[in-house]
Amino acid sequence: MALDLGPQPVPDAEAMHALGQHLARQVGAGDVVALVGDLGAGKTTLVRGLCTGLGIAPDDVSSPTFALCNVYDAGAFQVAHMDLYRLESPDDLQAAGLDEWLGAPDALCLIEWPEVARRALPTATIWLHLAVVHGGRTVVQNVT
Ligand SMILES: Nc1ncnc2c1ncn2[C@@H]1O[C@H](COP(=O)(O)OP(=O)(O)OP(=O)(O)O)[C@@H](O)[C@H]1O
Ligand SMILES: [Mg+2]
Repeated sequence: MALDLGPQPVPDAEAMHALGQHLARQVGAGDVVALVGDLGAGKTTLVRGLCTGLGIAPDDVSSPTFALCNVYDAGAFQVAHMDLYRLESPDDLQAAGLDEWLGAPDALCLIEWPEVARRALPTATIWLHLAVVHGGRTVVQNVT
């Protein structure tokens, strides 16, 4: 599924938030979105915007760096916001019980630092790559 990611680069954090809100109209329950990008690339900002677009309070959204997964209520479905930075192997995903969220029909998964879990993610996973560029950030989709 090719997403509309709007004009690039995304010039500032406010525009990144707005892009997230735009994405909220394009993804939903059952989808898994993997957010690849270096430290500070804007992954959490994008997630916060997306969640805001789903009616979740922006202040409720923070990177689950230590919890691994935060769950938010979007009304019709749940949002599982993961940060796998501290994960060492894909098996840890199962050990933490997080694999049950992946592709669950009543959940949207948004995953920061997803690379370690690549082989555990559904083939339909939407891969977004964020990068720091002069004048902001780029967000591109890896359509395979
Ligand atoms: N498009 C943008 N242009 C410029 N700055 C941005 C943009 N998007 C987000 N930022 C800023 O970049 C910083 C890092 O953002 P954020 O925390 O979302 O990154 P992250 O990829 O989640 O980082 P981490 O790897 O630590 O989880 C914040 O100060 C945020 O406001
Ligand atoms: Mg983050």
